[in-house]
Amino acid sequence: MKNLIIAIDGPSGAGKGTISRALSEELGYRHIDTGAMYRAIGWLAIHRGVPFDDEAAITALASGADIVVEGGVVAIDGHDVTRAIRTPEIDKTAAAVARLPQVRAVLVARQREIGQSGGVVMEGRDIGTVVFPDADVKIYLDASEEERARRRAGDSAHSGGPVEQKAVAEAIRARDLSDSTRKASPLTLAPDAVHIDTTGMPIGEVVDRVRTLVKDRTPAS
Ligand code: DC
Repeated sequence: MKNLIIAIDGPSGAGKGTISRALSEELGYRHIDTGAMYRAIGWLAIHRGVPFDDEAAITALASGADIVVEGGVVAIDGHDVTRAIRTPEIDKTAAAVARLPQVRAVLVARQREIGQSGGVVMEGRDIGTVVFPDADVKIYLDASEEERARRRAGDSAHSGGPVEQKAVAEAIRARDLSDSTRKASPLTLAPDAVHIDTTGMPIGEVVDRVRTLVKDRTPAS
């Protein structure tokens, strides 16, 4: 079977992580969470005391950093930050770092390197539009704002513990606004992406739909 490049984009809490993980396990593909790369850079900036608006310094950090985002582990320069990057503070820092065009250029180049040989499910905000505009399968996952906030509030890996859904909803709204209105590669739906609204859909059903799409795009060998 051909080693496809599968791009999964969409806003926070749309289910990208869950679906990408399930799909990659099923296909025996690598799963690359590009959001974790922006988060890890945000973490390193705090760790080293670099201000988020110093684009040159953050770009230098990103260029020199050894980042691992595979196998359920996120590490940067030897620090295991798998849990440390899932905090409300890093939510904000990652969004700030992701606004910087030069930092994006560095990370996009890495993402292309990682994914170019295929056999990969890559999730993010700009995978089908910028990183791999020729991806074999492009999916844009979405859900109502209320449902996305509910999912995030119930996901302690993201919220860091029990939090109020209202506070999560506000934080998500602020981040979505930042991600979709920034100048550099804003979150947008690629014209050739398949849009799936997962509001009220059980995970299994979403995976079924995505699996069918992948099968349709897989050339018979
Ligand atoms: O998916 P996430 O919440 O872990 O992403 C963290 C931040 O990075 C979020 O503000 C969106 C941004 N991001 C991006 O701009 N481009 C990507 N390919 C992935 C994430």
